[in-house]
Amino acid sequence: MTMTDAPRTSTVTIEPQSPTIGAEVGGVDLSTELSADTIAEIRRALLDWKVLFFRDQDITTEQHLAFARHFGDLEVHPFGASKPGHDEVLAITHDENSPGLENGWHSDVTWRQEPSLGSVLRLLEGPAIGGDTLFADMYAAYDGLPDSIKERVDGATARHDFTRFKIGLRKQGKTEAEIAEVEKQFPNPHHPVIRTHPETGRKGIYVNSAFTKEIDGMDADESDRLLQLLYTQASYPEYQVRLIWQPNTIAFWDNRSVQHYAASDYYPQVRRVERVTIVGDAPYYDASQAPAELPPRPFMGQIELRRKGYKHVR
Ligand code: SIN
Repeated sequence: MTMTDAPRTSTVTIEPQSPTIGAEVGGVDLSTELSADTIAEIRRALLDWKVLFFRDQDITTEQHLAFARHFGDLEVHPFGASKPGHDEVLAITHDENSPGLENGWHSDVTWRQEPSLGSVLRLLEGPAIGGDTLFADMYAAYDGLPDSIKERVDGATARHDFTRFKIGLRKQGKTEAEIAEVEKQFPNPHHPVIRTHPETGRKGIYVNSAFTKEIDGMDADESDRLLQLLYTQASYPEYQVRLIWQPNTIAFWDNRSVQHYAASDYYPQVRRVERVTIVGDAPYYDASQAPAELPPRPFMGQIELRRKGYKHVR
């Protein structure tokens, strides 16, 4: 019997939720010990679909952590609130005293030198309606750029910074000297504007409106104009999938190929989630790793680019 004839030990099913991004994973119970085959299928599905949704997973914090650990080491968020007794669990709670803040397109922790591979988010308590999370396919967004823009940004790097957390640190009463100490611990990284995915070789936009500051070596106007254009790509519904949370839903996304946005439309209702974040590696750009050209898709962001007066849209 060859490897390919061997009986599958996994019962995993994959149900795509849009043409390129998002799949619902069935036939798996995250409260149990998962087989190597099951983990391999989930990893494959993550690479193919970029964000996975698991429904009806009534799991504990330990099971949440155990699931994420199958994909790498876990990190501790230096600025966010951890769940008591569980440093690796970032507890995000919003209510009438604390409106949602995650409503900006971003990839997690790009202010780290080695930003996250992926995040596993678990809903503990959701609003009666609203509080969805949207995900955007950064490969499709890159593929849809006109060649003139690709030529400008391929191989460029940009500076990332955790500015938005500094506001929180000041609110917590940290002095400027203390904040400067934190800055020493997390010096600004310079990441490729277009990132080669280390496992698929595909190119994706890797700047985000939450943490990217400017493109290196470019005058400020051009850097701003290009960054705005790149940020806008995440906002096209054609590149997105939208997760409507239900009790016991888990989302697992690849921070190297998607950006996400938590809709903050549920105020003053309560929304409580817990995020476990998997350590990643230093982003790089290597055009030679890119797989063969994909067939062109008709929308690919061109309508908006034309409206803005870009002449070189294919
Ligand atoms: C996050 O931005 O990591 C949290 C997303 C969410 O709360 O849906």
